[in-house]
Amino acid sequence: MTENLNPQERPHTWAKVDRYLEQRLIPEDAALTQALETNEAAGLPAYDVSPLQGKLLQLLVRMNGARRVLEIGTLGGYSTIWMARALPEGGRLVTLELEPLHAEVARGNLRGAGIEDGLVEIRVGEAREQLEALIAESAEPFDFIFIDADKPNNPAYLQAALKLSNPGTVIVGDNIVRGGEVIDETSEDERVQGVRRFFDLLENEPRIEATALQTVGGKGYDGFVIGIVR
Ligand code: SAH
Ligand code: DHB
Ligand code: MG
Repeated sequence: MTENLNPQERPHTWAKVDRYLEQRLIPEDAALTQALETNEAAGLPAYDVSPLQGKLLQLLVRMNGARRVLEIGTLGGYSTIWMARALPEGGRLVTLELEPLHAEVARGNLRGAGIEDGLVEIRVGEAREQLEALIAESAEPFDFIFIDADKPNNPAYLQAALKLSNPGTVIVGDNIVRGGEVIDETSEDERVQGVRRFFDLLENEPRIEATALQTVGGKGYDGFVIGIVR
């Protein structure tokens, strides 16, 4: 076992520890496993959150007693399923996705997971436009918002999320470490610059109190921002 703790094999160890923790904490779930297989078969990128991260989202939704959840970036609906299962009777989850194929795969996965019709609404199109539409239609505020789409738009997503929030709304952002690249101010990766602008906003935004968690595991080295709206 000790050879696996060799620093040069860390990513390997992270993945093994993820599997250990999953075995202890996450019961086998055929629908979630099937969703990942369906995503892969449909050629979707494997950007889904990990099982342990999905469960973290689910617990955060429950801990906040959220009834209305907004997700920006559906992919195949893997994180959507985790969060939707945390909702009480009469709850609602709106998830935004640019790619019609991703949305179609997600619909199938949600059905496969037995998520009741009407609980989840997938809105297809540019998330920025979808968010403007939600704001324009005075959508009831959301209690929990998960930002996980294209990273260059993160600052715009945070600003829209604040407009769709109430005091106490929890906002979570994924992929905010990017293997450590987030600290490279000269990075030419637009995703890294998007995340850095997201932090600039958070630094100067009095309406949200936030922290960040670096994460390692089967998905490598990354992290979450977790904040609460004042
Ligand atoms: N939350 C998912 C992963 C999302 S991956 C999970 O954990 O299971 C990011 C998704 O954002 C992709 O499906 C991508 O198509 C979508 N996306 C990228 N740019 C977008 C945009 N401008 N508007 C809406 N969705 C976008
Ligand atoms: C990317 C997006 C994600 O949501 C993710 O979890 C990993 C990577 C990306 O766009 O590179
Ligand atoms: Mg992500």
